[in-house]
Amino acid sequence: MATAFFNQFLDFLLVLLALNFFIDISFGGRQIDPKSSIEFIKTSCSSATYPDLCCQTLLGQASTIQKSPQLIAHAALNVTLIDVKSTTESMVQLSQSQLLPAKVGQAMQVCLKELSDTVEALRKSVIEMDKIKSSNIGPMVHDIRTWVSSALNDESNCTDGFEGDNISNDAKTSIRSHILTIAHLTSNALALVEDYASLHG
Ligand SMILES: *[C@@H]1O[C@H](CO)[C@@H](O)[C@H](O)[C@H]1NC(C)=O
Ligand SMILES: *[C@@H]1O[C@H](CO)[C@@H](O)[C@H](O)[C@H]1NC(C)=O
Ligand SMILES: *[C@@H]1O[C@H](CO)[C@@H](O)[C@H](O)[C@H]1NC(C)=O
Repeated sequence: MATAFFNQFLDFLLVLLALNFFIDISFGGRQIDPKSSIEFIKTSCSSATYPDLCCQTLLGQASTIQKSPQLIAHAALNVTLIDVKSTTESMVQLSQSQLLPAKVGQAMQVCLKELSDTVEALRKSVIEMDKIKSSNIGPMVHDIRTWVSSALNDESNCTDGFEGDNISNDAKTSIRSHILTIAHLTSNALALVEDYASLHG
């Protein structure tokens, strides 16, 4: 009798196990309540340098980010890279479409060079972010931190280039605000990379 009961109990356990397995498979263990992902993003962004911009750019990616510190850092780097690329394009267009005052034109060339360094640094970071495993996380995060910091440096040199000469045209204002956004996005991405790194010592 005891054996029969035990067998039944075993069956019951097996069914539970199978069910658990099935749920894991069908949801890939990844389907996270969207609300909890949004909470996670808001919480993570609250420690970023520019929390509003962080939420504004990342909340739309809740389904990708889920509740992963690695994915949110990765998504923030992606967002920054995309923004730098589109700003670079508009700057190139701008410099080709109108005769700029020489000083602005010069600042723009310097800036474009630095933005291309920024794209390079971010691209390397995004690729590395994809390759992180628990065994190599230390050195990889170190690399990413170095690259993203240098990107931030390049960007600040870029805004500096437009400082001091007082041509107050729309183009210049628009360039500065674009560069500023890039710098803020980069700073946020760096903060999220640091958060992720701090989880792993
Ligand atoms: C980042 O961008 C790459 C390439 O566009 C994409 O494959 C990847 O899913 C993105 N990752 C995140 C976390 O957004
Ligand atoms: C940016 O400026 C810093 C110091 O102001 C300098 O060390 C660095 O080399 C500059 N970066 C570039 C890409 O010119
Ligand atoms: C900026 O403009 C002021 C007058 O509006 C002028 O005195 C000054 O020299 C200008 N500065 C530069 C760097 O062009």
